[in-house]
Amino acid sequence: MDKFIIQGGRRLRGDVAISGAKNATLPIMAACLLCEGESRILGVPEVTDVQHLSGLLGELGMEVARAADGLRLKVVDEQPCHARYDLVRKMRASVCVLGPLLAKRGRARVAMPGGCAIGSRPIDIHLRGLKALGAQLDLKEGDIVATAKRLRGAEVFLGGAFGSTVTGTANVVMAATLAAGKTVIEFAACEPEIEDLANFLNAMGAKITGAGSPRVTIEGVERLQATSHRVIPDRIEAGTFMVAAGITNGEVRLSQARLDHMLAVVDKLRQIGLIVERADGGAVVSSNRRISATDVTTQPYPGIPTDLQAQLMALLCSADGNSVITEKIYPDRFMHVAELGRMGANIRKEGPTAIVTGVKRLVGAPVMASDLRASAALVLAALAAEGETTVSRVYHIDRGYDRIEQKLARLGADIRRVSE
Ligand code: EPU
Repeated sequence: MDKFIIQGGRRLRGDVAISGAKNATLPIMAACLLCEGESRILGVPEVTDVQHLSGLLGELGMEVARAADGLRLKVVDEQPCHARYDLVRKMRASVCVLGPLLAKRGRARVAMPGGCAIGSRPIDIHLRGLKALGAQLDLKEGDIVATAKRLRGAEVFLGGAFGSTVTGTANVVMAATLAAGKTVIEFAACEPEIEDLANFLNAMGAKITGAGSPRVTIEGVERLQATSHRVIPDRIEAGTFMVAAGITNGEVRLSQARLDHMLAVVDKLRQIGLIVERADGGAVVSSNRRISATDVTTQPYPGIPTDLQAQLMALLCSADGNSVITEKIYPDRFMHVAELGRMGANIRKEGPTAIVTGVKRLVGAPVMASDLRASAALVLAALAAEGETTVSRVYHIDRGYDRIEQKLARLGADIRRVSE
């Protein structure tokens, strides 16, 4: 297992290129199950979640190869339909194969994902949506077994107690592309990754309108043809590097970042004192003073994403005053609180809310990564802390950040990866 050793206190300066979005790439890879021919996906980040999904798609009869000109994906065998628990438990997003398998092969057996470090994360809404399209669903030995001769278009409501569901919307949109007739999804997730998926599917010949809004309409078609597509830049990686600039009082130019996908985050960062300026194809983010405290509430898009909650908390640990952070998507996503406490942060948790009292300076300590975004928060805190921090179990960060330590080192951070 690798760990990062970080000496804090360096101001970050320079340029960083933002990679393609992990959460756009994963459903787009799964969507390749729906089509004939070889698809090519450009801008795919080098993260282990992509490797995991490639392994699963390989078991499902797809050839997946990374080439200089992108990821190439082609179905060679339509017989397999079982996404085994062994693979699904490594990565919950594996469940995004359910909709495409069912729509294209008429059957799917997908292990029911269990809970994970950030909460219980049910998939009841995915199943409700697929059932509305005519799927027959059973639970066998912990697997969802779904069958349908041909799915039928329908009106589908995808809202839940915590708002919309991103992967649930992706699953139902993908399933509906090959259904007979028209599907209208109400309360669809509006995340840019859903719009990117719909753009990819439309380029394959699907007829989807309204993606990126709460109502998505899909006219089913008979078949889809492979295409090539460049995934959108990763707005969570971009937000993480913005915080890195702020937390070190540095100046970082982000290239290939889409500020239009990050308006709530940019607005919040400006409120607390960071300078965020649009630049050619990206942004320049800098800070030259102590930041002020604020309130942060995570929400579905276009609100502040839950995937940046931990990183914003790291930033607010040394703000001037008390900040209140409320998690509205995953009320238990606070594993980073105790680890930040080991670095001198003053954080009190009350239910889905954390009250952060700014301290003068964080101090280095050995800490442990618990999930992807929590580990990013620890790395950020370490960049600002006095002395040395060791972040262990960085396989969590490797799931979703493309060579983060190399990108940070190029900006002047003192960070090393070592094998434990
Ligand atoms: N929910 C239900 N029932 C469902 C589905 C979701 O109650 O059937 C609840 C969840 O428990 C949660 C909320 O609805 O409270 C939103 O969950 P959603 O389904 O939108 O999450 P997801 O699709 O499983 C994606 C991202 C996550 C990100 C969330 C929220 C991917 C592969 N994953 O997960 O990303 O946190 O949306 O924006 O797109 C990450 O990248 O670190 C990560 C966890």
